[in-house]
Amino acid sequence: MTASSTNRQALIEQFQQVRTFSESLCKPLAREDYVIQSMPDCSPTKWHMAHVSWFFETFLLKPSAVDYQPLNPEYAVLFNSYYNAVGDKYPRPRRGLISRPTVDDVYRYRAHVDEHVLDLLECADDRALPDLAPIVTLGLNHEQQHQELIVTDLKHMLSHNPLRPVYVEQPLNPTQALPVLAVHGLGNRSAGGLAGAAVLGTARRKLVAIHTIGLAPNRSG
Ligand SMILES: [Fe+2]
Repeated sequence: MTASSTNRQALIEQFQQVRTFSESLCKPLAREDYVIQSMPDCSPTKWHMAHVSWFFETFLLKPSAVDYQPLNPEYAVLFNSYYNAVGDKYPRPRRGLISRPTVDDVYRYRAHVDEHVLDLLECADDRALPDLAPIVTLGLNHEQQHQELIVTDLKHMLSHNPLRPVYVEQPLNPTQALPVLAVHGLGNRSAGGLAGAAVLGTARRKLVAIHTIGLAPNRSG
């Protein structure tokens, strides 16, 4: 097995781990729990789950996957947040008014994005992979940020309920915790790591440049 194939497999496994963990966070939920927006600074879980997929679709699949077709082109606006440079967005304070697409539709959207990201990572040649890896890692870091937001927004939503529901009866198994994602250096371990970090820095700067205006005072998302 070559170094690049090892890193390719590690990247695929990290992608699957983070995406699966988002869905495991939703396992305790009823369908009704997915759609409530308890205040303008919170977002419904359904929106978070779609938005993190929109990120991969917008910044990885559309630029890099040949012949990629979005599941629904209108999701580009509905699930944008504050990435002003990539187009219009639906207002955050009204995300809780959106009953369609349904929760099932959002899971279909996630599956569609997963299928094409995995296809891209499996088929990309060794020269293309170093350009894709930092974007994937950034997307996974972004999804992990939204995993935190999912839990905090759910707790705020549940706190309004006089029946005092809890998110989970027992704490999640700590062994389910995910490792901190490493930057993927492609090539040999020492030089490749530095090269990967440099590429990730470039990717972050690009995203910072398009993510500048319109952040709320206390949180993004
Ligand atoms: Fe976001």
